[in-house]
Amino acid sequence: MNPIEEQKQYMKEVKEYHQNKKLKYLILTMGCQLNENDSEKLSGMLEEMGYEETENQKEADLILFNTCCVRENAEDKLFGKLGELKRLKEEKGIIIAIGGCMMQEKHITDKIKESYPFVDLLFGTHTLYKFPEDLLKALKERRKLEDIIDIEGEIHEGLPVKRNSQLKASVTIMNGCNNFCSYCIVPYVRGRERSRQPKDIIQEIKELAKKGYQEIMLLGQNVNSYLRVEKEKGIDFEEYEGVHSFATLLRAINKIEGIQRIRFVSPHPKDFTDDVIDAIAECDKVCKLIHLPLQSGNTKVLKEMNRKYTKEQYLALAEKMKKAIPNLTLSTDIIVGFPGETEEEFEDTLEVVRRLKFEQVYMFLYSRRVGTPGDKMENQIPEQQKHERFDRLKALVESQIQENNQKYLGTIQKVLVEGESKNNENFLTGRTDSNKVVIFEGSQDFIGKMQDLKIISEHMWYLKGEV
Ligand code: SAH
Ligand code: SF4
Ligand code: F3S
Repeated sequence: MNPIEEQKQYMKEVKEYHQNKKLKYLILTMGCQLNENDSEKLSGMLEEMGYEETENQKEADLILFNTCCVRENAEDKLFGKLGELKRLKEEKGIIIAIGGCMMQEKHITDKIKESYPFVDLLFGTHTLYKFPEDLLKALKERRKLEDIIDIEGEIHEGLPVKRNSQLKASVTIMNGCNNFCSYCIVPYVRGRERSRQPKDIIQEIKELAKKGYQEIMLLGQNVNSYLRVEKEKGIDFEEYEGVHSFATLLRAINKIEGIQRIRFVSPHPKDFTDDVIDAIAECDKVCKLIHLPLQSGNTKVLKEMNRKYTKEQYLALAEKMKKAIPNLTLSTDIIVGFPGETEEEFEDTLEVVRRLKFEQVYMFLYSRRVGTPGDKMENQIPEQQKHERFDRLKALVESQIQENNQKYLGTIQKVLVEGESKNNENFLTGRTDSNKVVIFEGSQDFIGKMQDLKIISEHMWYLKGEV
C-alpha cells in the first residue's frame, strides 16, 4: 500500500477511536511559509480524523506546535508556551504534540524530554505524513512517543490539505536545501533538496484553479534550482506539459485558466538564470515583485556566509532584471551582525539598500545556530552593536518605504480584493502586484475579484484607494 493510503487507514482508526466525538484542535505555527503549508496539511489530516479547529486554547483537546528554529526567539516562544500549557495538561489531559524543524535538533528534543515530560508526541520534518499513525499510538498507549528520523524524507503526494484562504494558495514545489549558507540551520533540519514531479504540481494547481483560487505562491528554499539536483544526479523525473525547470514551470502555470497571479519564494541570486528572467518578463500572471535575498552587501561577508555571489554580481543581476522586466520591484532579506562584520562592511549593505530602493526589506539580527559553521566562528559581534546596526538599517529602510510610497499616489493599481480590513470594518483590503496592502470603501461584491483602484493616500505600511 502506498504510504499515504496507509495513513488514510490510520485516520479512519483515530476517528473510530474517538467514536465520532467532536474534538477540537489548535495548531500554533512558527516560521516560514513552508511551515504554514505543512500546518495546512496537518489541519487537513486532523479534520479527516474528525477534529474541528478552534482558536481558543482552553477549548482544545489537542494542541500542536509546528516549530521553526531559524532564529533564537522561536525557541523562547516554544518553551514559554509549553510552561503555560502544563496546567491545561494537568487539568484536562489534553494531547500535546510538537513537530517541525526544531524537532530535528537533538539538543532541543533532549531538553523537552527532560524539562517538559508531559508532551505526548514529537515528530520531525521527514515524518509529518505519519502524524495519523503516531497520534493513534499516542492516544492508545498514553505514553510519550517520538518519531524523528535523520534520513532524507521522500516526497509523499496526496495528503489532505485544509487551506487558510479561499483565494490564495501555497504550493510547495521542493523540499530541503543544499546550499549550506554558514549561518543557516535549514539544510540540517530539512534535509537535502528534492523536487516534486511536474505533473503533481501542475495537477494540484489546476485543481486549485477549479476551486476558485486566484493566486498561487510557489514555495521552496531555493525555488530557482527546481529539478536541478534531479538532473545533476540522474534521478528520474517526468516532463509534463513542457515542465523541466523553474522557468518552464512558471510558463506552464501561467497558462492555467482561472489563476490570476503567481508568486514565489525564495529564489537564490546565484541560480537566477536568464531563462527565469525571460519567463518572469513574458508571463503576464507572474507578479513583478521579486524577492531576492541579499543577506549582506559586502563581498567578504558574503564569502564567509557561503552565498557564492559578490556585491557586484548581486548589483549586476538586479540591474539586468530591471532592464528585462518592466515595472520590476524587489524585496530582500538582510542579516545584520554576522561574525566578523566590520563597520565598513556593514556600510556596504547600507549602500546596496540605498542604491536598489527595495520595496520591502526583511531584517534579521544574526543568531547563532548550534551545528552551523557560523556558530563556531570566534569573532561574534556583541549584541549591542548588532542592535545599533539594525536600528540604522531600519531607519534607512523606513525612510525609503515612505519615499517609495509617493510613487503610488495618483496611479491606478490592480488589486486582488481579499476581504474586510481587520482594523477597520468599513474598508475592504487587498494587495497590489507589488504586494502592497490597499484599503478602500466598497461593497462585499468586490471580494475575491481583481479591481482597479486609484491610490489617494499613503500610510507607511498601507495605501488608501478608491474605485
Ligand atoms: N532559503 C531562503 C530563506 C531561508 S530562511 C533564502 O536563502 O533566502 C529566511 C531568512 O532568515 C534568510 O533569508 C535569512 O535572512 C534569515 N536567517 C537565516 N538564518 C539566520 C540566522 N542564523 N540568523 C539570522 N537570520 C537568519
Ligand atoms: Fe538557508 Fe541558505 Fe538554504 Fe536559504 S539557501 S535555506 S539561507 S542554507
Ligand atoms: Fe524555520 Fe524551518 Fe522554515 S527552520 S524558516 S520553519 S524551514
